Amino acid sequence: MAVKRVMVLTGGGDCPGLNAVIRGIVKRASQEKDWEVVGCIESFNGVLREPTEIEILDENRVAGLQIQGGTILGTTNKGGPFAWPVKNADGSWSTADRSDEMLRKLQYLGIDAVINIGGDGSQRISLGLYNKGLNIVGVPKTIDNDLSMTDYTFGFQTAVQICTDAIDKLVTTAASHNRVFIMEVMGRDAGWIALHSAIAGGADVCLIPEIPYDIEKVKAKIEQRYNKRRGYCIIVVAEGALPKGGTVTGTVTGEVGYQHVKLGGVGEQLAADLKAAGVEHDIRYTILGHLQRGGTPIAFDRVLATEFGVRAMEFVLEGRFGQMVAYHHPDIVGVSLEEAVREQNLVAPDSRLIHTAKGVGIEFGD
Ligand code: F6P
Repeated sequence: MAVKRVMVLTGGGDCPGLNAVIRGIVKRASQEKDWEVVGCIESFNGVLREPTEIEILDENRVAGLQIQGGTILGTTNKGGPFAWPVKNADGSWSTADRSDEMLRKLQYLGIDAVINIGGDGSQRISLGLYNKGLNIVGVPKTIDNDLSMTDYTFGFQTAVQICTDAIDKLVTTAASHNRVFIMEVMGRDAGWIALHSAIAGGADVCLIPEIPYDIEKVKAKIEQRYNKRRGYCIIVVAEGALPKGGTVTGTVTGEVGYQHVKLGGVGEQLAADLKAAGVEHDIRYTILGHLQRGGTPIAFDRVLATEFGVRAMEFVLEGRFGQMVAYHHPDIVGVSLEEAVREQNLVAPDSRLIHTAKGVGIEFGD
């Protein structure tokens, strides 16, 4: 019997649960007699590089992986088959479309299907390759939870837990010193991590990209939290938050193939702006950064990632290509890759969760 090969890869920023998806795929595939799983190293780079970097994944290789953070396959959020970085003769960099060459190589390697675990950027690559004829299934990951066609991406709840634990710790030091604490969290254009952790941690202020803030309103909330000198205030600010009429804080890295603005620094900027607005209390800021993506996934993400992995393999068996597995509570369904990348999942300012947050007195500065 001819053995069929499915290739799995992880693309974009890492997040807790990637290994649990890989384990789910391999374990489900091992129940079939005629399927073998191979892993491609660092997104599609393992196929694009010479010599090729792929490895066979069997049950032994994935044993116990549901608890392990990161990805055993490595990942990257730069380049890819449609925008491969190329150094020109004059030392400058440009990008090349190597997708056709890669598809030929996949054929040569005997790859019958591909499962691409990644966020919006990765699923755009999946769509591009599907449109060129590749048998591909997507699995949505990202701590940002910004993919619109799934209730949750795996990794998000773990990031929220890490941020909530951090708020719990900041509360005790803030209260001891009567300080204002600003905690900057990730999420790019989406305020989901900030919003969930602010509610869970009992923050006083939550600033998110979807609701530009008025610094005077933030100042007023801080003052409300103090009785003269005594008091403290916890502010959660999403890295993509911005003041009314202002812009996001970040840098364009200029790295070839990395098209994003590298967000970061809004917490420090906010501290300076609050001082300039006349806040006299001590202010400190903390940037949680990549801690939010590290370590072991919480149980929810292990379960979701396992469900995604098993279903993605079943989509391959059923020939349901050009689809992304998605969580529509309580089911795992398939959505077309086209739909999956059409729009971002952002926090609606008039949503139930914002209403709940305002109901417990959280200030958004609007
Ligand atoms: O998309 C996930 C994410 O962690 C964002 O929240 C953040 O802005 C970005 O990736 C950071 O990317 P990098 O790992 O390149 O610093």
